[in-house]
Amino acid sequence: MKTVARLDDIANRPDKFMSLTLFELEAKARSVLAEPSFAYISGGAGQERTLRANTEAWGQRSLRPRLMQSMDGFSTGVRVPGLSLQFPCLIAPMAVQRLACPEGEAAMARAAASQGAGFVLSCQTSVPPEQAAAGAFWFQLYLQPDPQATRALAARALAAGAVAFVVTVDAPVNGVRNREIASGFRLPEDVRQVMFHDLPTPPVAGIEGLLARAPVWADLAALCAESPVPVLAKGVMTAEDATLAIGAGCVGVIVSNHGGRVLDGLPATAEVLPAIRAALPDVPVLVDGGIRSGEDILVALALGADAALLGRPAYYALACEGAQGVAACLRRLRDEFTVAMSLMGRRTVAEIGPDCLFT
Ligand code: FNR
Ligand code: LAC
Repeated sequence: MKTVARLDDIANRPDKFMSLTLFELEAKARSVLAEPSFAYISGGAGQERTLRANTEAWGQRSLRPRLMQSMDGFSTGVRVPGLSLQFPCLIAPMAVQRLACPEGEAAMARAAASQGAGFVLSCQTSVPPEQAAAGAFWFQLYLQPDPQATRALAARALAAGAVAFVVTVDAPVNGVRNREIASGFRLPEDVRQVMFHDLPTPPVAGIEGLLARAPVWADLAALCAESPVPVLAKGVMTAEDATLAIGAGCVGVIVSNHGGRVLDGLPATAEVLPAIRAALPDVPVLVDGGIRSGEDILVALALGADAALLGRPAYYALACEGAQGVAACLRRLRDEFTVAMSLMGRRTVAEIGPDCLFT
C-alpha cells in the first residue's frame, strides 16, 4: 500500500522510505526506472572519473568541532539572491523530470518548497514553468545562438515567478556519456523539453553548428545588462572564470563541473572551491557535485560556499516516490545538516568557515 503523508509532515511518515540515505536512493531508483533512463540520469562523461571524484572529495576533509558552545538562537537558515532558505540547499537544475514521474518538475518544486529548500528550474523542463512553479524559484538557462530565443526563455520564466537566472556556462556542447549512449537512451514520446517548442528559432543541432555560435562572456554580459533579476553563472571551475563572470555582471557563481556529465578529467568541485572563494570574498558562491549528506553540505560551507545544490539523489527520490520521495530525501538532508552543525558547535550558518576543518 502506498503511504501518503503531507509533504510538510514527511518526517512522520510511518514507512521505511525515510530511512534511506541519499546514497541508497540510487539503487532503489535503478530498480524502478527503465534502464536507458537510469543510464541518462546517473551517468557521467568518459570514464566517470569526475563523477566519482565529486562524491569522494567531500569525505576527504575532517571536521573540527568546538564543544560546549552556547546554542541559543540556533538557526540553519540562509539567504541567497531572491530566496530565504530553511537550510543551505537548493535542488540543482535537471532536465526533463517527467522521466522520473508524471508530475515531473511540479512535484520536485512542491517538495523543495515543503522543506524550505530552493528550487532551480532547468530550461529543459518537461513541465511548463507556469505549472512547475511552487513559489519563488531560480531559472537555469543556456545562452541561445539567437538572443531573441534567450529573451523568450527568460521572459516566460520571469512571468512564472523566477527571481534569479542561473546561466550554465560549462556545456556549449553535450558531454560524451558512454553509459547513456550504450543504453540507446532517447526521450520517450510523451516527455518533451516544453520551453523549446515555442521559440522564435529552433535549437541548433550538431557540434560544428553549436561551436560556430557558442556563447562568449560578452553574451553573458548582454543578458546581465538586460536582466531585471540577479544572474549567477553555473559551471565555473577556476578563479579566472569566476572573476570574468562577476565582471560580466553576474551577482554570484555556482562552482560546478555539471555533476561530471560534461568534461571527464575535471577535478572535484571541493578541490577548486577554496580558490574561487578566495578570489571572490564578497559575492554569493554556491557549489554542487556529489553532495550526498548533511555533513557534505557542512564541508562545502567550510570550504567557502554559501549553499549547496543537490542533483541526482533528488531525481532518484522523484523516481521512487514522486513529491513524497523528494520531501523525505530533503528532510533527511536537512536533519543531517542540523545535527552536524549542532555537533560542530556552530550556532548559525555564518559561523561555518575554514576553522571547521582540520588542515
Ligand atoms: C543535470 N544538470 C544540469 N545542469 C544544468 O545546468 N542544466 C540542466 O538542464 C541539467 N540537466 C541535468 C540532468 C540530469 C539528469 C543531471 C543528473 C544533471 C547538472 C546539475 O545541475 C548539477 O550540476 C549536478 O547534477 C550536480 O551533481 P550531483 O549532485 O548530481 O552529483
Ligand atoms: C545534462 C544536460 C541537459 O546534463 O545539462 O543532461
